[in-house]
Amino acid sequence: MRDESTELTGADFVVVANRLPVDLEELPDGTTRWKRSPGGLVTALEPMLRTRDGAWVGWPGLPDAEAEPFVEDGLQLHPVSLSAKDVEDYYEGFSNGTLWPLYHDVVAPPAFHRHWWQAYVRVNQRFAEATAKVAAHGATVWIQDYQLQLLPAALRALRPDLRIGFFLHIPFPPTELFMQLPWRKQVVEGLLGADLVGFHTAGGARNFRWLATRLTEAVPGHTRNDVQYGDRTVRLGAFPISIDSGALDELARSDEVQQRAKEIRADLGNPERVILGVDRLDYTKGIDVRLRAFEELIAEGSVDAEQTVMIQLATPSRERVEHYQKMRNDIEQSVGRINGEYARVGHPVLHYLHQSLPRDDLAAFFVAADVMLVTPLRDGMNLVAKEYVACRSDLGGVLVLSEFAGAAIELRDAVLVNPHDTDGVKNALLSALTMPAAEGKRRMRALRRQVLTHDVDRWARSFLAALGLPDGDDDE
Ligand code: ADP
Ligand code: G6P
Repeated sequence: MRDESTELTGADFVVVANRLPVDLEELPDGTTRWKRSPGGLVTALEPMLRTRDGAWVGWPGLPDAEAEPFVEDGLQLHPVSLSAKDVEDYYEGFSNGTLWPLYHDVVAPPAFHRHWWQAYVRVNQRFAEATAKVAAHGATVWIQDYQLQLLPAALRALRPDLRIGFFLHIPFPPTELFMQLPWRKQVVEGLLGADLVGFHTAGGARNFRWLATRLTEAVPGHTRNDVQYGDRTVRLGAFPISIDSGALDELARSDEVQQRAKEIRADLGNPERVILGVDRLDYTKGIDVRLRAFEELIAEGSVDAEQTVMIQLATPSRERVEHYQKMRNDIEQSVGRINGEYARVGHPVLHYLHQSLPRDDLAAFFVAADVMLVTPLRDGMNLVAKEYVACRSDLGGVLVLSEFAGAAIELRDAVLVNPHDTDGVKNALLSALTMPAAEGKRRMRALRRQVLTHDVDRWARSFLAALGLPDGDDDE
């Protein structure tokens, strides 16, 4: 996949994210290889960037990895090295021990440590220096996500000629929660270095605008969608992200995937109903909520353990962060308890895979599932919900979706649930399992209309048009 012969040049379009789209993996024999990076950011951005000539600046995913820039499938990749200490303090610490829980409604308590913050400042500055070297004069730089909120201002200081966009892939929190952050002013000032700051929802943009005018020198702009910051106008907006729905629809229709879906059901013993959960193993995803609902329904006899099987696929994630270790233990205990109680030999009621699956396998699981459970306590968007819909050209399957996922704003025809309400989740699961086919089809048809017409290319084009890029296409 590496193409050493292609020359690296100053790029006119640069994406910067904490991670590269590929991740260095250390094998047991001490050698390394590149594999696809986890998470929704890469799922969304990779197809978008492959259709544009561009460069991607990011961390290769292992501490102290010194990789040279390289070209992969026409895309320039520029690795930024992080030391073990940077990984501990900037990535696991400030990004995933402070900002991630704070921005997800403090569903786990955030920790505030000054040395984590200092590492965040240091690493953001390093990304600014690396990006400044990669971008051609007057280039457009699109910065991604919460790990790099100081980068817009740091980069502007080095390269005032650049056009800078920023998109936040996770929720922007309610103002009361954001105000807990000891470095709140610096973070807002960092973001105001961009020409355009994008969020998934209008509420996120509104919260940011309010904070910018209270915490910094910014003043309200001429419209509700901008602020005036010194001599610059900073635009704000809502840009709900999506997937490459057309490509996934096509993959899911292929004979191989359809056949594999049948095999999955056969491997499960051809039960009447298959329930599926697919997530990064993260405490925001509400995996515990759905296991509890499933367990109680079996215990009460509302769901027949002989005829119903649940599968939970969970990508390993942030395994050295304490909240993640505790959650993994809790979930694995629940899986053991539920199977201990209700499985027969050779017939588990709950299948749990702590693994990352190839895309076509994942598509086959989506095709095989009668009910998709997406129950985050808070989620910026949740692309899994959209992926399930894109895979159901047969109009089969029912999506149960948390009200607290950004996707719920667009996917109104899902069965919407409050994940904090266990009885509500149980009722939703039961109604999904017993939904008349006609109603299921009506809902899925409406969901597919939304997902197939609002794909990631449309998202990127509308963001880039708002940023003033000529090949953006303001068709909103
Ligand atoms: P997040 O970005 O928080 O991880 P999203 O739902 O937006 O959540 O995106 C998750 C992405 O990771 C999706 O593209 C999904 O298909 C992928 N994914 C999740 N679990 C797995 C798994 N077990 N194997 C492979 N891909 C997975
Ligand atoms: C979410 C975040 C991304 C992140 C991904 C995977 O999608 O918004 O920024 O890359 O999760 O998490 P990780 O910590 O493994 O990069």
